[in-house]
Amino acid sequence: METVLQVANLCTEFKTERGMLKAVDGVSFEVHEGEMLGIVGESGCGKSVTSQSILRLYDEKSFVRYSGDILFHQESLLSLPERQMESVRGAKISMVFQDALSSLNPVFTVGDQIVEAILIHQKKTKAQAKEQAIEMLDLVGIPDPARRFYQYPFELSGGMRQRVMIAVALACHPQLLIADEPTTALDVTIQAQIMDLIVEMNKKLGMAVMLITHDLAVVAETCDRVIVMYLGQIVEEGRVEDIFDHPMHPYTVGLMNSIPKLETTKATRLYQISGTVPLLSQIPSGCRFAPRCPYATERCLEEMPELRSVSETQGVRCHYQNERSSELEQTSFNYEAG
Ligand SMILES: Nc1ncnc2c1ncn2[C@@H]1O[C@H](COP(=O)(O)OP(=O)(O)O)[C@@H](O)[C@H]1O
Ligand SMILES: [Mg+2]
Repeated sequence: METVLQVANLCTEFKTERGMLKAVDGVSFEVHEGEMLGIVGESGCGKSVTSQSILRLYDEKSFVRYSGDILFHQESLLSLPERQMESVRGAKISMVFQDALSSLNPVFTVGDQIVEAILIHQKKTKAQAKEQAIEMLDLVGIPDPARRFYQYPFELSGGMRQRVMIAVALACHPQLLIADEPTTALDVTIQAQIMDLIVEMNKKLGMAVMLITHDLAVVAETCDRVIVMYLGQIVEEGRVEDIFDHPMHPYTVGLMNSIPKLETTKATRLYQISGTVPLLSQIPSGCRFAPRCPYATERCLEEMPELRSVSETQGVRCHYQNERSSELEQTSFNYEAG
C-alpha cells in the first residue's frame, strides 16, 4: 500500500526562556493510503506537537526548531518554502481540533467558511463552491444543509459545529486528515457519532486518518495501527491486534488498565500508572518511563532503550520486552475490532 506520510526521526524543540525544550524526540512512523493510524498517550506526551509539526504550524523564525524529515508522497515538507506549505495545509493535509468553537470564525456563516476553504485551493466559481459546500454539509450528516449554510457557529450545537469543522477539513478532499482529540469536548453519544463520521469518511473517500486520542477504546474500535507515545518518544507501535492482544511495554499495559471495564476478566489488574508525565525540563535519563514503571531496574534508570522490532509489525522500547511479554499478556484487553 502506498505511503502517504513518512515521518523520519522528527525532533521538535521549543525555544524558551529556560533554553531549548524538546517536545518530540526522534519520532518515526508512516501513514499508508486509506489507513487509520491511532496515536495514544497521556496528556503531555507530544501527540499534538507531533501533529502540528507535520503541518508546520509553529513559528519557525522565533519559536521552534524542527529536525529530521517529514515526507508527504516523498516530498519533504520540512524543506518546502512557506508559500508552498500553504497549499499543503487544508488541501492535501487537513486537521480537525478538539475545540470547534474557537476554530470556527464567529462572524462568518458556516457556509461562508466552507466556501472560503474551497475557493482558496480550488479553481471554482462562487456558485460552484456554494453548491459543493452544501454537499459537504450533507455528507457530514447535517440535516437541512441548505438552511444550515446560512447559520453562524453559535447557532449550532457542539456536535454540529464539529461536523462543520470536518466539512471544512474535507472540503478539498485531503489525502490525510489529522484529527487531534476530535471528540474530547463533546458528550458521549455525540462523540460516538463524530467517530462514526470520521470512520465513514475514511472508508468512503479512502482518506488516510491520523487519530490522536487518549481514549484507547476508540482506537481499538476504529484504527488499523497504533503508536503509543510517552514523553516525546514512541514507546510501542503495532497493529491494533498486536497492541491490544500482546501489549509489551509496561506503559501500554498501564494505559489499558486505565480503561474502565464493564466486566472484570480473569486477569487481575497488575497496576495503574502512578504519577504524572514529567515536564520537558525534567526528562529522566535512561528509560523515560522508568521512574513510573513498576518493573524498572538499575539499568532502566541509566540506559535509554531503543525502539526494537519484536515482530514484523510490532516494535517496543523496553530493555525487558522478552522477559515481560508473557507476564504482561495476561492483562490483554478485550476489544471488538471495528
Ligand atoms: N507551545 C509550546 N511551548 C512550550 N512547550 C510546549 C508547547 N506546546 C506543547 N508544549 C509541551 O510539549 C509537551 C507535549 O505537549 P503536547 O504535544 O501538547 O501533548 P499531548 O500529547 O497532550 O498532545 C508538553 O510538555 C507541553 O507542555
Ligand atoms: Mg494534545
